Amino acid sequence: LWTSGGFIDYAVESIRQQVGQDRVILGLSGGVDSSVVAALAHRAIGDQLTCVFVDNGLLRLNEGDQVMQTFAENMGVKVIRVDAEEIFLSKLAGVSDPEKKRKIIGHTFIEIFDAEAHKIDGARWLAQGTIYPDVIESAGAKTKTATNIKSHHNVGGLPEEMNLKLLEPLRELFKDEVRQVGLELGLPRKMIMRHPFPGPGLGVRILGEVKKEYADLLRLADDIYLEELYASGHYDRISQAFAVFLPVKSVGVMGDGRSYDYVVALRAVETKDFMTATWYPMPYELLAHISSRIINEVKGINRVTYDITSKPPGTIEWE
Ligand code: XMP
Repeated sequence: LWTSGGFIDYAVESIRQQVGQDRVILGLSGGVDSSVVAALAHRAIGDQLTCVFVDNGLLRLNEGDQVMQTFAENMGVKVIRVDAEEIFLSKLAGVSDPEKKRKIIGHTFIEIFDAEAHKIDGARWLAQGTIYPDVIESAGAKTKTATNIKSHHNVGGLPEEMNLKLLEPLRELFKDEVRQVGLELGLPRKMIMRHPFPGPGLGVRILGEVKKEYADLLRLADDIYLEELYASGHYDRISQAFAVFLPVKSVGVMGDGRSYDYVVALRAVETKDFMTATWYPMPYELLAHISSRIINEVKGINRVTYDITSKPPGTIEWE
């Protein structure tokens, strides 16, 4: 019988045996999988683990601070935070094609991660949050079409070049098992139950060219949306929810005057496998409340829409 406690004992022992006295590096994203690996490896080898957290400027509101708080402050994990917003935004300037944006974000991440990894003397291992469905997906990737496999950024190429060996303690686990392990390791429930967040982050939720102004507006709108989903109890019933920034302006009324501001779309879907999904029947009163909060509180947004497209024919993300 599989239990999270039993798995942890086994994984801790096997990590210790594998790495010995070597040092291990890990790209921490704040997502469930890399977070659970960080907590697990920290339990096994403590300070031999160094995590690198790259803030690409495309994260949700306060995400970087939360990651630092959970891991560095509360758990005593060694985490290097790299503030790389300017590099990412300058490389993305003028680029509006979704796949090009993905490639730029992925490559820039690897460059930065690689530079940090080289600074860590004696690093022999790269820990990754690969889980069982990832193993299956990459095995079948050649037969899938470009529409259902988007170029997820992983650090492929890095281990060979740096002579790093891979440490993938979650390789045999399904997502719900990873979550149980995370809870058992004492990670916050909110972190463990989070919806998936794509590697390119807000980079693919700002349609077309990415600008800091857009990212800042989107972060505020998205945060209000998620806060209301948590407060109303809908968050856990939804598989993935987020706001999308539309770089078009529409006219509105504001007091005695006229506004001419940007639009956000709210997305929420239910799905088992993310290959197909249905739009979530959000209560009207809740939509009304979220919409008026966003428009009142986010200066620069004057219109909110709700996406009623399922997958297929839509995709979950807008890019
Ligand atoms: P789509 O939009 O293809 O999304 O219906 C399906 C799931 O994949 C996530 N997604 C990504 N994840 N890098 C990622 O790490 C990406 O480039 C990417 N594109 C989509 C999406 O958030 C959803 O969970």
